[in-house]
Amino acid sequence: MIFKNIDSVLNTKFEGEKVNLRGWVYRKREQKKLIFIILRDYSNIIQGVIKADSKSWKEAQKITIESSCELTGTVHKDKRAPTGYEIRISNLKIIGLSEVFPITRDKSAEFLRDVRHLWIRSREITSILKVRSKVFEAIHEYFRKNGYYEYQSPILTCAAGESGSTQFEVKYFKEKAFLAQTWQLYAEAGIFALEKIYCIAPSFRAEKSITSRHLTEYWHAEVETAWQDFEGLQKLGEELISYVAQKVAKDCKKELQFLGKDPKEIAAIKPPFPRITYRKALELLKKDGMKVPFGKDLRTIEEKKICSHYKKPVIVTHYPKKVKAFYMKEDPEDKETVQGYDMLGDGLELIGASTREPDIKKIVERLKAQGENPKDYEFYLDTRRYGSIPHSGFGLGVERVVQWLTGIDNIRDTIAFPRTPDRIKP
Ligand code: 4AD
Ligand code: MG
Repeated sequence: MIFKNIDSVLNTKFEGEKVNLRGWVYRKREQKKLIFIILRDYSNIIQGVIKADSKSWKEAQKITIESSCELTGTVHKDKRAPTGYEIRISNLKIIGLSEVFPITRDKSAEFLRDVRHLWIRSREITSILKVRSKVFEAIHEYFRKNGYYEYQSPILTCAAGESGSTQFEVKYFKEKAFLAQTWQLYAEAGIFALEKIYCIAPSFRAEKSITSRHLTEYWHAEVETAWQDFEGLQKLGEELISYVAQKVAKDCKKELQFLGKDPKEIAAIKPPFPRITYRKALELLKKDGMKVPFGKDLRTIEEKKICSHYKKPVIVTHYPKKVKAFYMKEDPEDKETVQGYDMLGDGLELIGASTREPDIKKIVERLKAQGENPKDYEFYLDTRRYGSIPHSGFGLGVERVVQWLTGIDNIRDTIAFPRTPDRIKP
């Protein structure tokens, strides 16, 4: 038997045609002489109806919510049906009869997290997961088209790439190891071989606070480019984000609409993006009645405020050196700041980027200031000893980008099985 997907038969050209469908029972409504079954598959939902005189009536009576089944029927346009078409079912076959499905309408968010493995079947999560898949596709495509090699770094590492305080420590035989927070240190070694590299891999952060934008395990798209200056780094960030937005706007229209987002607004996200320095951002905030002294990192409410002035993501450059990582290049014109940027979309940090500090002495000083032992970074320091070159790169939080594109409240819902400080199950 050849099965069609539901979405493909929601089409006038199938009116009156006999089709085979398969999927799961999304809803069921029983009347004396009619049973309505809403069938769900990966692509959409469709209403099915069975009459009491049908040979499948008994099967229809027996079938429960989330049972899997195969059915045959003719397609009819019907305004009252949830997706505008109805299948008049002539044959229904239960494949896997479902026990009473634990998810019903008014379940708490906490309960839905307990049964996450079942909740991912919901239309909302399914839509988000499709956007997520498209985001991965777009990132790979963008880098491949632009001559980047895919390059992997270890997940079990010996030194902190970001901040020691958010490292997950693991026992590694007789030594201590850490789960990777970033591929960056190994990427900076890799550009001496491949020059233009990227990856998408999990990163781990032992963030203790529970927020709507932090996961302890997230997917990190990172890029490192030899010879690239700060201007090139900013262009790369806006081009990548725009490429992802275009692709999602074009290929995920239905999903975006279902999630209440306008694909046209997403398609309008094209370079150039607004760029402001951290110092300028402080002035802007002051006008809005938010006083932030120079040297303080921006909090979410402040980032949101900055974003509220623009329709596109904002590139905030030149943060104070002391709030940023040891590897970010000191700005030659404003030595209190670094040649780096955060790209903010609707108050979310989508990208963290920088030109890399070339001066080995400065790197060592800053490592010490952060309480790190430079001895653990010998392999990294070698990148500055043997044919050092100007280079730059960034990290993009894939879940942050999905959250920004879909407008979903909590980052937890951008990944099938979120990892947060309060939850490791299921
Ligand atoms: O700004 P971060 O910490 O930068 C780095 O890790 C650099 N080493 C990247 C590089 O230059 N290769 O992280 C990069 C991005 C952030 O902008 C954010 O989008 C995301 O990773 N991110 C998180 N996403 C979800 N949960 C978390 N706990 C995240 N921490 C960072
Ligand atoms: Mg950052």
